[in-house]
Amino acid sequence: MVDGVPGDIILSEAQIQARVAELGAQIAADYQGRRPLLLGVLKGAFVFMADLARSIDLPVEVDFMAVSSYGSATKTSGIVRIVKDLDIELENRHVLIVEDIIDSGLTLNYLRRTLAARNPASLDVCALLIRSGRQAPDVDLKYIGFEIPPDFVVGYGLDAGEIGRNFRDVRIWIPDPDPEH
Ligand code: IMP
Ligand code: MG
Repeated sequence: MVDGVPGDIILSEAQIQARVAELGAQIAADYQGRRPLLLGVLKGAFVFMADLARSIDLPVEVDFMAVSSYGSATKTSGIVRIVKDLDIELENRHVLIVEDIIDSGLTLNYLRRTLAARNPASLDVCALLIRSGRQAPDVDLKYIGFEIPPDFVVGYGLDAGEIGRNFRDVRIWIPDPDPEH
């Protein structure tokens, strides 16, 4: 449990829904005639994945992978480990990784290397959020929902110590300045 409280809304439900609809339309246009495999990164991407998949007017497939990069704290550990692997083979598939937020890009770059070795026909990324100015220079994102300020955020799948995943909006997380009290 990360001590703190949810604060100001930075992305409203309406803003998120409008943007997800745009992303879905763009993806449907780009992947026309194909059957993309949406690959959600658990747990954070589960809400975005549900809405995005339904906004793409194509016969998409979905699968999920769980990686651990943050533990339960709000700081990166630098360690990425596969906790749950995919059920579907990637060979010759058009794979679109669906991520909640790109911070350092560490998780994504690890995933991309691992998945590229399984010979997909294409491998791209759709991230709901990107934190401005924090990524390694080689992070390549095809679709981005919103760029956000440096603050830690919760909601719409994202959590702080498992709190906030079920919010319909995205809010700033205000850490407790004195967690002992
Ligand atoms: P990266 O490897 O530094 O890019 O970290 C990406 C992962 O860290 C995301 O998939 C999230 O699980 C987690 N993360 C980063 N920033 C936040 C945040 O503001 N709120 C909740 N989770 C976050
Ligand atoms: Mg995550």
